[in-house]
Amino acid sequence: MGLVILIGMMGSGKSTVGMELARLLDVDFFDTDKLLEQRLGRPIRQWFQIYGEQAFREHETLMLKSLDAESGVLATGGGIILRDENWSELKRLGTTVFLDVDPEVLKRRLTQSKRKRPLLEVDNWEEKFDSILNSRRDVYNRADQTIEVGDEALVDVAQKIKNLLHEYP
Ligand code: S3P
Repeated sequence: MGLVILIGMMGSGKSTVGMELARLLDVDFFDTDKLLEQRLGRPIRQWFQIYGEQAFREHETLMLKSLDAESGVLATGGGIILRDENWSELKRLGTTVFLDVDPEVLKRRLTQSKRKRPLLEVDNWEEKFDSILNSRRDVYNRADQTIEVGDEALVDVAQKIKNLLHEYP
């Protein structure tokens, strides 16, 4: 079966939806950011501050390459889609699902979230967010499946993905 791989912007709920989806499918759950934190021995935000984004991206790719295509659900960091070589790994590992969440909902969630995103720690973070989303939209659309998400509860999103996977196995 391989992995069901959730991709999408910061705040799109990949980890929360992923955990619920794994529960519904009765498979293991993995999270690239969590795996990286274990590997790097520090929170990602700290890693960004000390070593910068490029160093983080190198580790992200190496970590992806070290994963095996077992069954499970994999939540990813929002920027995993930036490197072409990561796409080869994502294809090897399973099926990608883009959580296409309404940008207003994303911004609201990010405002409320306790977890600070290093890329958005700037004065005009909403503008930065919009420009990141614009630059990534076409790349997210390379996903095998897309699920459009508005304001619904994340548990419902997980159920929707489960249904989608049954329709297009
Ligand atoms: C990033 C998203 C973050 C994390 C890092 C970079 C991005 O993960 O990997 O801060 O480039 O969009 P989340 O998508 O879980 O916030």
